[in-house]
Amino acid sequence: MQATAVAQPNIALIKYWGKRDTELNLPAVGSISITLSGLYTRMHVDFTADLEADSLLVNGEPNDKLLPRLGRALDNCVGTDRPRARIASEANFPIAAGLASSASSFAALTVAAAAALQRDCTTAELANLAGRASGSAARSLYGGFVELKNSDDAVSVSSILDPLDWPLEVVVAVTEKGPKPVGSTEAMEISRQTSPFYERWITDQESDLATAREAIAARDFKALGAIAEHNCLKMHSVMWSSRPPIVYWSDATLACLETIRRLQADGVEVFFTIDAGPQVKAVCAPGSAPAVREALGATAGVQALLDAGLGAGARLE
Ligand code: DP6
Repeated sequence: MQATAVAQPNIALIKYWGKRDTELNLPAVGSISITLSGLYTRMHVDFTADLEADSLLVNGEPNDKLLPRLGRALDNCVGTDRPRARIASEANFPIAAGLASSASSFAALTVAAAAALQRDCTTAELANLAGRASGSAARSLYGGFVELKNSDDAVSVSSILDPLDWPLEVVVAVTEKGPKPVGSTEAMEISRQTSPFYERWITDQESDLATAREAIAARDFKALGAIAEHNCLKMHSVMWSSRPPIVYWSDATLACLETIRRLQADGVEVFFTIDAGPQVKAVCAPGSAPAVREALGATAGVQALLDAGLGAGARLE
């Protein structure tokens, strides 16, 4: 009746922003991500027959704010007639701050819950279940470079390149450690309903995915960086042009972009991506991370740096 699973966050290079079905939490677009190593969320789920209510500890502290969403994820995963659960999560990086903590949390929760109740699920089924809780979580079931394909009747996720085949590194510049002002679920809906750029964002996505797929297959860092930065800035343009505007960036976010532009001009192989938060993720070609780390560490407003490589999909412990 109990199990523990570990999952690592993933960072989208071609982003998911917008849903085609809010009830089933189906994304409006496909996406391509890299699963990280070094950062992790560990989830312990203990279904106990005589409990009256679910409970949640996050890094050892009771947390009633996140509990309802985790409870709903368990309902979706194993059914509403399930026993109540004691959930304990532990992460080695800040949560709810645009560092993909929901991806690793829901991926780990899904794997642990299915195992605790002896559900025999394939990885593809677990990815779909995790995706119902948080779209990006579906991708953390797989390691390395991962593509989530979105068609009218199905979402399918698969690993498109093993981490060892192109061992990129990521330096995350943390510019704020607090939770973000608007969560991505709510923000995406605001964008869908109000941004004049939303439709164009959706129709352009297939071409961005194809460009990224080709760049990954050819291990073409420059081409991957160009399409990833373009796709990221396009997503943020959709956010900025929403009403009310959704602006996650801070002064330090922009200062990090300047630093990365300078490194690129000096020939360092690095590109940026930014999710629903002010942190900047610098994706580095093998060997570039030390120079990137040094430059971002000296950038105004950077509070901490996190180092990651490419890692494996969610798994039982
Ligand atoms: C900007 O997966 O957090 O990180 O499905 O509503 O939980 P929900 O959204 P979530 O959105 C992630 C958005 C993003 C881009 C990405 O990871 O693709």
